[in-house]
Amino acid sequence: AFPKRVKVVEVGPRDGLQNEKNIVPTPVKISLINMLSETGLQVIEATSFVSPKWVPQMADHTEVMQGINKLPGISYPVLTPNLKGFQAAVAAGAKEVSIFGAASELFTKKNINCSIEESLERFDEVMTAARAASIPVRGYVSCVLGCPYEGKISAAKVAEVSKKMYSMGCYEISLGDTIGIGTPGSMKEMLTAVMKEVPVGALAVHCHDTYGQALANILVALQMGVSVVDASVAGLGGCPYAQGASGNVATEDLVYMLNGLGIHTGVDLQKLMDTGTFICNALNRRTNSKVSQASCRL
Ligand code: HMG
Ligand code: MG
Repeated sequence: AFPKRVKVVEVGPRDGLQNEKNIVPTPVKISLINMLSETGLQVIEATSFVSPKWVPQMADHTEVMQGINKLPGISYPVLTPNLKGFQAAVAAGAKEVSIFGAASELFTKKNINCSIEESLERFDEVMTAARAASIPVRGYVSCVLGCPYEGKISAAKVAEVSKKMYSMGCYEISLGDTIGIGTPGSMKEMLTAVMKEVPVGALAVHCHDTYGQALANILVALQMGVSVVDASVAGLGGCPYAQGASGNVATEDLVYMLNGLGIHTGVDLQKLMDTGTFICNALNRRTNSKVSQASCRL
């Protein structure tokens, strides 16, 4: 059975913009987040406190965090790969953070420059500091349906890393199909394994749409009881350490599908589409949202 309501986690300002070649002006990022805050979304991932040498696009993280209107009832989590990032995030006013690991050794090395084992040690430091500061931590696991460097990733490995991050104290584990290579078949197999280790109520799916499978994969996850779904307005994005990876499922398309299923999100689709138009104009590109491309007005 489908969940009655779904929490949509908007990752456009972070996952959507991190891969942009040209630096997006800080005021554009702030306007994007402020517009998203008016759509009814409960969670808007704002930026990442990663090394500016690694991801120059996120170098203005402090300015973004301090420039946005933080509305009550909305959470604005940020990515923090290590203690240094965590401390900078808290200093900038972050009230929630995310750590990001992967089920692939090679991807972990390319993305955060360490082994999976070392990454878990770094995350442990973040968890300890977060606990002391009463800051909730979300955990990402990347490459859950395949890796750009290792190819196939076993469901057992995904379950193992997810379990470790959940046991550390992450309140939610977001399972990332980083390169959008999964299918409903592999999604079902992976979730079946992970749900033996982590309660389904603590799972989210994070689907990139590279192979056009994102909505189908999300539908399978919903059928299996997952009720938190990550998405990116206008389908922006990609990962700088996963060449060829395209954007997340477009938030507009996700909300359209959920509306059609009678699943409550609290998100205003028209306002979301207007926000998509804003950011696409600012980036001078066409939207990746099929719903926004459709000429028939809603
Ligand atoms: P490193 O070079 O191994 O770090 O990078 P280090 O500890 O050796 O330090 C080197 C320098 O970086 C030092 O500065 C540190 O102070 C600095 P220096 O002495 O040379 O001047 N440094 C930092 N600066 C700012 N913020 C920090 C920080 N930490 C160290 N937090 C590091 C390791 C993790 C920092 C680096 O690899 C990094 O920043 N990686 C980020 C990669 C990234 O952002 N990837 C995209 C997000 S993941 C994703 O998109 C997937 C996801 O969407 C889910 C999915 O789709 O699957 C989440
Ligand atoms: Mg991603």
